[in-house]
Amino acid sequence: MTVRLDVVSIFPDYLAPLDLSLIGTARRKGLIDLQVHDLRDFTHDRHRTVDDTPYGGGAGMVMRPEPWGEALDHVLAQGPADAPPHLIVPGPGGVPFTQAMARDLAQQPWLAFACGRYEGIDERVYDEAREHMPVSVVSLGDYVLNGGEVAVLAMVEAIARLIPGVIGNALSLVEESHEDGLLEYPVYTKPPVWRAREVPEVLLSGHHAAIARWRRDERLRRTAGRRPDMLATLDEQDLDARDRQV
Ligand code: ADE
Repeated sequence: MTVRLDVVSIFPDYLAPLDLSLIGTARRKGLIDLQVHDLRDFTHDRHRTVDDTPYGGGAGMVMRPEPWGEALDHVLAQGPADAPPHLIVPGPGGVPFTQAMARDLAQQPWLAFACGRYEGIDERVYDEAREHMPVSVVSLGDYVLNGGEVAVLAMVEAIARLIPGVIGNALSLVEESHEDGLLEYPVYTKPPVWRAREVPEVLLSGHHAAIARWRRDERLRRTAGRRPDMLATLDEQDLDARDRQV
């Protein structure tokens, strides 16, 4: 099955990295059909205007509703009216983007992304869009970017790698940070000694149970040090007797 992704932006070139690496390969294999649309193609004035001053006053500019309305109509017309895309609008005022959300979105056949700029998009665009498709405003984190494009790059990467077939070795998705509430364990490769720093002995022991225990302990230690908030939400049932000692 091909997953369809549409992105609307005034800077289509910002999305060029989606031609590279895993996502580029997935597109060429036909696993992902990704179309980027220039919002300015849906303007009708000589200056291809997409913004104007805010009603009620205030700093900055607001994206006008007309080009957005036409752009979203154009995206909707690409597929069946009874199975529209889920529209994601990145913004610092959205619900937090998480691995669980990425997993959920990776199951959907069609996603659309609307990249806002300036002070945001006229609210009527959201109201109108909600009459035709599910709409979610999603934030990457508690900081402000200049526009949605970088957030879309991050979200599409997180989602696309969970689409079946995109990553060759599906096992590499299992033990990742944020898949089971713990951060990843530290990893090492050759040489066994580098600048007098040794690889932890247990990893060279060939003792699989001891290695698994060491890795789990490191995950717990790391999570406690870097993300105590995550440790606090871990289910007691998911901890074994040895875990409690770490
Ligand atoms: N656009 C601007 N800031 C953003 C953020 N933190 N997350 C997603 N989109 C954004």
